[in-house]
Amino acid sequence: MSERQGRRILLVVGGGIAAYKALELVRLATKAGIAVTAVLTEAGARFVTPLSLQALTGERVYQDLWSLTDESEMGHIQLSRAADLVVVAPATADLLAKLAAGLAPDLASTLLLATDKPVLAAPAMNVRMWEHPATVANRELLRGRGVRFVGPDEGEMACHEWGPGRLAEPAAILAAIEAELAAGAALAGRHVLVTAGPTQEPIDPVRYLGNRSSGRQGYAIAAACAALGARVTLVSGPVSMAGPSCVKLVRVETAAEMLAACEAALPADAAICAAAVADWQVAAPATEKLKKPQTPMLSLVPTPDILATLAAAGPSRPPLVIGFAAETNDVVRNATEKRRLKRADWILANDVRPETGIMGGAHNAVTLITGEGAETWPDMPKEAVAARLADRIATALRAS
Ligand code: CTP
Repeated sequence: MSERQGRRILLVVGGGIAAYKALELVRLATKAGIAVTAVLTEAGARFVTPLSLQALTGERVYQDLWSLTDESEMGHIQLSRAADLVVVAPATADLLAKLAAGLAPDLASTLLLATDKPVLAAPAMNVRMWEHPATVANRELLRGRGVRFVGPDEGEMACHEWGPGRLAEPAAILAAIEAELAAGAALAGRHVLVTAGPTQEPIDPVRYLGNRSSGRQGYAIAAACAALGARVTLVSGPVSMAGPSCVKLVRVETAAEMLAACEAALPADAAICAAAVADWQVAAPATEKLKKPQTPMLSLVPTPDILATLAAAGPSRPPLVIGFAAETNDVVRNATEKRRLKRADWILANDVRPETGIMGGAHNAVTLITGEGAETWPDMPKEAVAARLADRIATALRAS
């Protein structure tokens, strides 16, 4: 995949009368130098033929999840990631619902679920379907997860009703594709270092001091930066997740190992310290398992502060050093103070009281604190926080 040259989209053609416009979209995209891998749903194949798509893309068209040939040539996971952008045109109410619910009964929906690339949807459906509360909820959910939309346009539809629901014009979809591809390369040539997960500080060979961090926010940031074209080194404490694709994952256990791995990864254009590093380590971990009936007294010493060390790294200091502040009270005030003490450029403050469900959860509500002040972001999925942060990093690095 990394040897692939040029720009490529994966185009999912859903079922609907507007599917014929997908052919014009393919023609315009290939003319603009964008290679197209086409995937046709069963319903899509009722409106356009694989042969027309094949003729226009100049490549084989994928239709069947269970096709052994597909699996031997290119597995569906690889297919979902072998493009810079996934475009769904027309995106039917059914496809949006499947994606929102995480259903994967066919090749198109499986690819949408498996991809780690940005998704651009061009909806087309009857106006009542578009305005149905189920579709409204699905698209809001998908927007929150970072799916982008182009259209639908308003006008008379094939069913002779009037309103929003018409597929955007192919030229408008192409413009949106061009914009996504340009944004997608916003961190090209940059090296981003991310720390994630908890650290585990040994007490003896079988016990450790740890915390509840899932690593989810840090992994999402690493994936979002990679999606913008950055080379990413993700230094992670023990978590149960697999590393995002296209990211160099360095697994560590202790704070000291995390610091050493970060320093070895420098230079970097940006460092994002999302790890929940243990604050203390046992001064002298036992070499043999501690036994009852004695109750051990643990003597603790502070762990190295990775964020503060990177922010004070002299000539090898990354131009943008970003930390998180996990607080349970006076969140913004404490986080602002943390930014000053640790000399971070930005701090993302979050309220980790158990009732917020943030630590270990799927959502995050952050306040971004920079030299210019504090900016509170709405509660959103951690992936959306990551995408927004990656955009901000790209903008800041461009300006520096
Ligand atoms: N951090 C770090 N190394 C440490 C401790 C924290 O790199 N040894 C980083 C975290 O990754 C985070 C930021 O510092 O980006 C703040 O972490 P937080 O847990 O909120 O604060 P602490 O520094 O641990 O301070 P306290 O627990 O006293 O609030």
